[in-house]
Amino acid sequence: MILIGLAGGLFILFQAFNLKIKSQGEIPEEVTSILKSACYDCHTTEARNVEARTALNFEKWDDLRATKKIGLLGKINELVGEDKMPPAKYLQYNPEKKLTESQKQVILDWTTEESSVLMEGE
Ligand code: HEC
Repeated sequence: MILIGLAGGLFILFQAFNLKIKSQGEIPEEVTSILKSACYDCHTTEARNVEARTALNFEKWDDLRATKKIGLLGKINELVGEDKMPPAKYLQYNPEKKLTESQKQVILDWTTEESSVLMEGE
């Protein structure tokens, strides 16, 4: 019994450690490549849309404070989950930018994982 408890405890510790290693606060490659294709047209410093780049600039992500990131991760999760980003109007003219189900899943997993890691570190 004690041994099982110990093994369980070690496993949980290992998982927590594992998550910490995975998240350096930077956006993982796999996520970045999706954001580049589907979001960078509007959410970077060079974007023409002032409203979009002010609300969220992925090039400045690393400089954001954890609380700000957590807020944005929640919004990304919600908007991508509900197919509201990229905006429908944009997709009319750029249909190839529509996220596939698996791309969506990568974004949703990242936002969920990253915000729980950040919250632990608060
Ligand atoms: C065609 C331009 C365009 C593209 C492409 C686009 N967005 Fe946006 N986004 C906007 C605009 C404009 C706003 C601000 C107005 C609004 O909230 O609708 C916005 C707002 C947001 C917000 C809300 C930020 C806040 O603080 O309220 C999030 C989160 C977001 N976008 C995520 C994304 C993600 C993730 C992608 C790619 C999957 C994406 N957007 C692609 C134009 C775009």
